[in-house]
Amino acid sequence: MPNTRVIRISFCGLGTVGQGVWKHISANRSQLETRLGVRFELHRVAVRSLNRTRDVAIPAERITTDALAVATDPQADIICELMGGTELAREVTLAALRAGKIVVSANKALICDHGAEIFAAARKHGGHFFFEASVAGGIPIIKALREGLVANRFRLIYGILNGTCNYIITRMVAEGAPYAEILADAKRLGYAEADESLDVDGWDTAHKASILAYLAHGVWVKTEQMIVDGISKLTQADLRTTEQLGYRIKLLAVITRDFDLNEISVRVHPTLLPKSKVLANVNGVFNGIAVEGDVVGTTTYIGRGAGQDATASAVISDIADAITLLTTGRVVATGEASIELHERAGTTPKLAPLGHIRTRYYLRLTVQDEPGVLAQIASVMAGNRISIASVVQTAAERPDAASIILTTHESDERAMHHTLAEFAKLGCVLEAPLLLRIGDFHD
Ligand code: NDP
Ligand code: HSE
Repeated sequence: MPNTRVIRISFCGLGTVGQGVWKHISANRSQLETRLGVRFELHRVAVRSLNRTRDVAIPAERITTDALAVATDPQADIICELMGGTELAREVTLAALRAGKIVVSANKALICDHGAEIFAAARKHGGHFFFEASVAGGIPIIKALREGLVANRFRLIYGILNGTCNYIITRMVAEGAPYAEILADAKRLGYAEADESLDVDGWDTAHKASILAYLAHGVWVKTEQMIVDGISKLTQADLRTTEQLGYRIKLLAVITRDFDLNEISVRVHPTLLPKSKVLANVNGVFNGIAVEGDVVGTTTYIGRGAGQDATASAVISDIADAITLLTTGRVVATGEASIELHERAGTTPKLAPLGHIRTRYYLRLTVQDEPGVLAQIASVMAGNRISIASVVQTAAERPDAASIILTTHESDERAMHHTLAEFAKLGCVLEAPLLLRIGDFHD
């Protein structure tokens, strides 16, 4: 149709996700254009290397290395920030918002670190910021929290939020394949971050947990205010032992809210989930999130959490919302409304102290294989009022050492913190213990 509005979309970053977005827009162009009542135009693209071969052909006059120029180009309607990182990405995002533009982002690290500043800039300058792809890949969890579950307050949200880690753990269990080999596959498949330690050390999950906590509770929890453990210390033996105990290990984000104390806690750690739990059976690159709402009860969301296609699906949903905004002026519910509501209602929670974060634990200790060692361990735990539920001793990999695997009854993070500090002073404990949490979620 000749008078149909043309929407000019620009990309800062055209790697795994950026190329996926344009590839799928191109493949479904006529259907998308008809549904949204516009025509798409790929306006400009910024990349780091102009010579790199890409799946998507870009005319030379449209591609540059100057991301700021692309972000502030007056003709662009929507800027997709798909570069990653937090420095240039922050500059680009703020510059576009200050120019009153719509920014679509998949950059969870940026949102966790600078979300407050980004939302404030959007509010002040009339820009808009959409970020569905930043959490759980193709699962529309941001929309679910902001729109579908708006009637609810959330006592508990827990989930597998990192596709790379779930892919690694799943293949370690199923195939016994070496960790490094599986991580290399995750990189090749486009799941892992450019800096893979963000995935395997738990930081990427923490960034996503921060975003969910903000949407659900209206407070920014920074990664340094969380417990954050990754998966790199897990061994095949841990995975085997926990399977024998009836559990699957999953890297989980756990966000709890105590409404009586008005406290929130956000933590990320490998967690032993009973095999009967839905999320214990979410495997490979899939993510899964259980959200307990006080009105609806628990709802669970499962889908691909990383990779080109799943992430492109989420970015394109934001582009569609952006087009609705551009063509009708209708603003889809935004994350910033959530924080304002909490502030206005005086319900912004404070962080729970460690002593209020309660769970059961799994501990693997490498100790001297000598009489009295178990008694020393038990004595430290008793001194911190941690009650042992089960003990298994096996041979350790190093000679003259034993591996003691303990599970505990419910205790708290403060008591466990003191226990670990005391273990570190015992001569019989030969290595830093592996500490896992047991996920007794009543959903
Ligand atoms: P890639 O590394 O594949 O792509 C990054 C793109 O940004 C590349 O095109 C790169 O250019 C460009 N770029 C990097 N630095 C600059 C710079 N200084 N100036 C201009 N362009 C630059 O990353 P992904 O596509 O995987 O990820 C993009 C974002 O999406 C990240 O924030 C990531 O966390 C997030 N994300 C990724 C998911 C995934 O499954 N991959 C899932 C969900 C979110 P060049 O091509 O020349 O190197
Ligand atoms: N590296 C991330 C993951 C990409 O593996 O989950 C999706 O955010």
